[in-house]
Amino acid sequence: MNVPRPHPADSPIGVFDSGVGGLSVLRHIRAQLPAEHLLYFADTGHAPYGDKTEAFVVARALAVTAFLLDLGAKALVVACNTATVAAIKAVRARYPQLPVVGVEPGLKPAAAASRNGKVGVLATARTLKGDKFLQLREQVTASTGATFLLQPAVGLVDQIELGDLQAPAIAALLEQYVAPLLDQGADTLVLGCTHYPFVRSGIEQVLAAHGRTDVALIDTGDAVARQLVRLLDTAALLRPASPDSAATLHGYTTARPAALSAAFRALLDLDPPVAEADV
Ligand code: DGL
Repeated sequence: MNVPRPHPADSPIGVFDSGVGGLSVLRHIRAQLPAEHLLYFADTGHAPYGDKTEAFVVARALAVTAFLLDLGAKALVVACNTATVAAIKAVRARYPQLPVVGVEPGLKPAAAASRNGKVGVLATARTLKGDKFLQLREQVTASTGATFLLQPAVGLVDQIELGDLQAPAIAALLEQYVAPLLDQGADTLVLGCTHYPFVRSGIEQVLAAHGRTDVALIDTGDAVARQLVRLLDTAALLRPASPDSAATLHGYTTARPAALSAAFRALLDLDPPVAEADV
């Protein structure tokens, strides 16, 4: 007997990050692709990626991708700047047929938004050291003449993962990392890590305290979701909206499911099923 196989467009999209940061990308994906089934993987048991070696991040990205493909993912979003810079090449080499979208610090839109050509880039240490990032910086500098001031935000991801976005420790780190960029004349700041949009209001408070509410903040979550729409469309993998089969969302984590559930509630006001993944 022939068992009917689901149409590939009905398969889910896999989205992953080292932790909760990718939820800032997931919200744009849900807004632009409300009919898609989604799998969100938080590799919290191995976070942060930002202070690990490139080889470690590559190994994690490949392991997580294999897990999401086992669950039937038709496409992958690497919702993490650090993993994109370190590992997207390895993921694409291993799975050449798989539509893959990554997140890179938005240097191009930042150079376009800047009036004085001075752009601060907040990202993890691993992102700012990565060849892929350094090549992007060289390219955008050559084509726009912008100067990029690089600021590793060491420790900020760990604090955001703790869940209290109003914590004084977060405010102190934001002051420590943003103030020197303002002192050097930056009029535009790139949020080069998917965790940082969740502390956008804390960054705005630092800007206000320095009398610099004119500074633009650049986040690429929306552009990443648009790129995903384009890729799925080209591959004829967009799932049509259907009134009798709602889109689903499932969470997976390498740490405590309760912690990811709490993040879904606090950051996106969602309550999907969350399971622990032994990856
Ligand atoms: N959200 C990841 C990024 O975009 C955080 C990396 C980390 O775990 O340090 O870079």
